[in-house]
Amino acid sequence: MITVLTYGTFDLFHVGHVRLLRRLSQLGDRLIVGCSTDEFNAIKGKKTVVPFAQRKETLEACRYVTRVIPEMTWEQKRSDIIREGADIFAMGDDWAGHFDDLADLAQVVYLPRTENISTTDLKRFAAAIHNEKVQMLRGAASPTRS
Ligand code: CTP
Repeated sequence: MITVLTYGTFDLFHVGHVRLLRRLSQLGDRLIVGCSTDEFNAIKGKKTVVPFAQRKETLEACRYVTRVIPEMTWEQKRSDIIREGADIFAMGDDWAGHFDDLADLAQVVYLPRTENISTTDLKRFAAAIHNEKVQMLRGAASPTRS
C-alpha cells in the first residue's frame, strides 16, 4: 500500500487541480490532501473566495482523493508524513526544491503544473468581467444629451 501526501489551498477548484490530483493518485494507492485552512492562508497572506469547509468538501468529492486533512502550519508536514505513513510527498513544481529536507522521511516528488490556468488567473478574469459590467452600467446610467 503506497500512500501519497500533498498540500495546497485548492481555491476555485479548476482543471489544473484535477490533473495534478489525478497524476498524484497514479503514484500510489491512497492520496491524502492537506488543505490549507482559512487561518493558515491568512498567515500566508492569501485570501480565498471559497471557505475551508467547502474547499475540503470539494476535494473529498474528487475521485482521486482518499482523504483530506487540514493544513494549519508550515511545520506539520513531518508529523503528518509519519502519522499517515506517507511513502511519497508530492507537490506541483512551483514548489520545486522547497521540501527536499523531507527526503529522509519520504520520497519527495515535484510534478509539472498545468499551463495557463491558476486560481489567480480565474480571480483576475472574474475581476475583469466585473469591471467591464460596472463600466457598462455606468454608461447606461449616465444622462443622455438631447
Ligand atoms: N497546480 C497545478 N497546475 C496548475 C495550478 C496548480 O498543478 N495550473 C497545483 C499546484 O502546483 C499545487 C496544487 O495544484 O501543487 C494546489 O495549488 P494551489 O496553489 O491551490 O492552486 P493555484 O491555481 O496555483 O493557486 P494560486 O494561483 O492562488 O497560487
